Amino acid sequence: MRRVACFAAVVVACLACSTFGTERQRLLMDDGWRFTLNDPPDAGTVFDFPEARDLSKARPADIAAEPALEAARQDPAAINLGGQVSFVQPSFNDGQWRSLDLPHDWVVELPFDSRADVNHGFKAISPKIGNTIGWYRRSFNLSAEDKGSTLWVEFDGVYRNSVVWLNGHCLGREPSGYSSFWYDISKAAIYGGANELVVRVDATRTEGWFYEGAGIYRHVWLVKTDPVHVAHWGTFVTSDVEGPNAIVTARTTVRNDQDSTVKCQVVSTIVDAENKTVVESKSPVLTVAAGSQSEIGQALRIPHVNLWSLDTPYMYKLLTTVQVDGKTTDSGYQTPFGVRTIRFDANDGFFLNGQRVEIKGTCNHQDHAGVGSALPDRLQYYRVEKLKEMGSNAYRTSHNDPTPELLDACDKLGMLVMDEHRLIGMTPEILGEVRGQVMRDRNHPSVFIWSIGNEEPTQASDLGVAIGVAMQNVVHQLDPTRLCTQAMNNGWGRGLSDVIDVQGFNYLRQGGGTGRGTPAPQATSAYHAMDDYHAAYPNRPAIGTEEASTLSTRGIYADDRAHGYESAYDVDYPRWGTTAEQWWPYYVARPWAAGAFVWTGFDYRGEPTPYRWPCISSQFGIMDTCGFPKDNFYYYQAWWSGKPVLHLLPHWNWAGKEGQPIDVWCYSNYPSVELFLNGTSLGKQDMPVNSHLEWKVPYTPGTLEARAYKGDQVVATTQVQTTGPAAKLILTPDRMTISEDGRDVSVVSVAVADADGRTVPTAGNLVKFTINGGGRIIGVGNGEPSSHEADKASQRSAFAGLCMAIVQSMPAAADGISPVPITLTASSEGLARATVTLQAVEGTPTPSVP
Ligand code: GAL
Repeated sequence: MRRVACFAAVVVACLACSTFGTERQRLLMDDGWRFTLNDPPDAGTVFDFPEARDLSKARPADIAAEPALEAARQDPAAINLGGQVSFVQPSFNDGQWRSLDLPHDWVVELPFDSRADVNHGFKAISPKIGNTIGWYRRSFNLSAEDKGSTLWVEFDGVYRNSVVWLNGHCLGREPSGYSSFWYDISKAAIYGGANELVVRVDATRTEGWFYEGAGIYRHVWLVKTDPVHVAHWGTFVTSDVEGPNAIVTARTTVRNDQDSTVKCQVVSTIVDAENKTVVESKSPVLTVAAGSQSEIGQALRIPHVNLWSLDTPYMYKLLTTVQVDGKTTDSGYQTPFGVRTIRFDANDGFFLNGQRVEIKGTCNHQDHAGVGSALPDRLQYYRVEKLKEMGSNAYRTSHNDPTPELLDACDKLGMLVMDEHRLIGMTPEILGEVRGQVMRDRNHPSVFIWSIGNEEPTQASDLGVAIGVAMQNVVHQLDPTRLCTQAMNNGWGRGLSDVIDVQGFNYLRQGGGTGRGTPAPQATSAYHAMDDYHAAYPNRPAIGTEEASTLSTRGIYADDRAHGYESAYDVDYPRWGTTAEQWWPYYVARPWAAGAFVWTGFDYRGEPTPYRWPCISSQFGIMDTCGFPKDNFYYYQAWWSGKPVLHLLPHWNWAGKEGQPIDVWCYSNYPSVELFLNGTSLGKQDMPVNSHLEWKVPYTPGTLEARAYKGDQVVATTQVQTTGPAAKLILTPDRMTISEDGRDVSVVSVAVADADGRTVPTAGNLVKFTINGGGRIIGVGNGEPSSHEADKASQRSAFAGLCMAIVQSMPAAADGISPVPITLTASSEGLARATVTLQAVEGTPTPSVP
């Protein structure tokens, strides 16, 4: 039966109608900021803010203390917090401050320091060392004509505990380092003159146990609209698929910032991926009282709908216009959305568009080599593309609200998302954060489930239930189309388990087991926590929220404590983890669970388990911090992607080990593989499903070759060769053409190669970059977990033969003539240099605040 939502609009007399402009403006405010570290002396203790003892985990004592903390906090805007501090004054001369553009993470610019926090990657920031407080100022003009409009500034995310002022007036405080937030500035703004926006960022406390960065590390926007407009995050699009068609319900919240009630209508237009109008609908009259907002719903039919799927992530757009008396007051509000169905089943896992999809997911933190947490938008796409290439179909935004551009990338590229919240709690503050997250992200088709927390100490208790219910209720109220999970690492069947929509499991080994070296999980009775749970609660859906934590260093084939390296064979994991090859078959054998997420897709700074200083980054990644694949990448690609895979490890440069046995592994999904050394067969083996093959090979330099068979036919070959000495550099940009918008990037990989162009797998040569034309280098990296080289530099040592530079176009205004090609040259002592020229092309610049 066709279900069409029915909505009624109350009609009240129109007392006043807007006369302001029509097309709303959403202007990027990333450029032209001034920045300095540290408070001025006159700040004193004015910014001390009562917070829980441990921010990263909610413990019962902190939760009990929260009402007292809440009572001790004053409304920062009401008391004009910090209004007397010199840096806040509009007249303050910030000419000595550094100029920079956003996104900005000041932590990635700092040196490493052994006294700093291990879990945050030993960058020189801590209460003891300093560098924990940053100030930003941005001046901008508003015209006299802007008066009467509604204006607000939006921050996609500031790490953390920020206070914002406009023209000396405090707009508010946002404790979370991950929530998006906004402030109406209509009243505090100066029209026909200069305005000073000031932001204080306090990263003294940390919210997580992993690298978090610091600063305004996501975009800032200035929005100008008519007082009668689509409210901030004011649309919610849902859909019902009926045969070949879809009934889309567009719920729109209209805000009226005028002094009197208005009667308005909402025009909703759906356009397809080619921007062709599919359907349009004008709502009945909606009455919105002065200074308030009202919601109206419209049903729109898309005939022959293109479904959003992992292979064809088809996106529609809802364009929303508000009219008063037939005159447009607000247009240009766009809501990209996709039409798909999702469903969890306690017996059969997860279904997308009616088809079972095994979640082949990765958990990821948000930092990347060279740039820390301040990623240019394109890098989000780069990372998601790499994960897709591996065959992954889902991304868990562990352990925090993601940046909106990550979700855009997942929408456009076809990657499901578990959208996770950072902190748990029942306070207005935490529930408000959840509310904002759901309102911001609920139109993204990629988001298939919400996660309300990770490994919280309260998870198995009554308190955990109370918190879980409070958070889940907020989600359900704002988004009836998706379910919630929480990543639990014990207590399954107790506490939160009884109320959470989908049971999350962190680590099958957490059910028992003794860690490293124990047999594969299937083989012992110690690993039955999941099975016991499913047997006891067969009607509850479940998903593996976190698995693996496999440890490996790219290109290294033996543990090396002195350097902080872990072998890249799939053998190392901490007490709670498994190899890749242990967890994946375990889930394949349990189709009632919806699949699982690997910890992690990419290495990240911090958590250098099992090492400490001088190791500074994690080694859990299937790829390193640069996105260079480790060997495990090919295990997953073989069993996840459906593409033919044939990969040999290790490298074959073992001078000094002649005659010694070397373990040779092959990842492949071909039925059988034969290994040859210098043309001599070492035997043919059948490839076990979801596994790998091994040979012991006495080392002789030369060529290792794998031949893959289907029946008797050789259908693919691959080789690993002993290389000659390093002779030259080879540059491989991920994109040869980038937009000349000052934001787009190309990730240029550098290989140290021998005379025949083969990457020398042991090379660590120092590579120096020069760049000419319309580009700049915004960061370098090599994926080495113990490297203390600077991220912001024009040089980097290779690690295991590779390093990379992230090249960004220069803003067109800065380079004068447009477009200007970008020439990157890499040189290294004794090696032939390499040059690559990237084309910068005119793109569509994001409208920005001048
Ligand atoms: C998990 C935790 C992750 C990370 C991981 C390392 O227990 O949820 O944040 O710390 O361990 O193995």
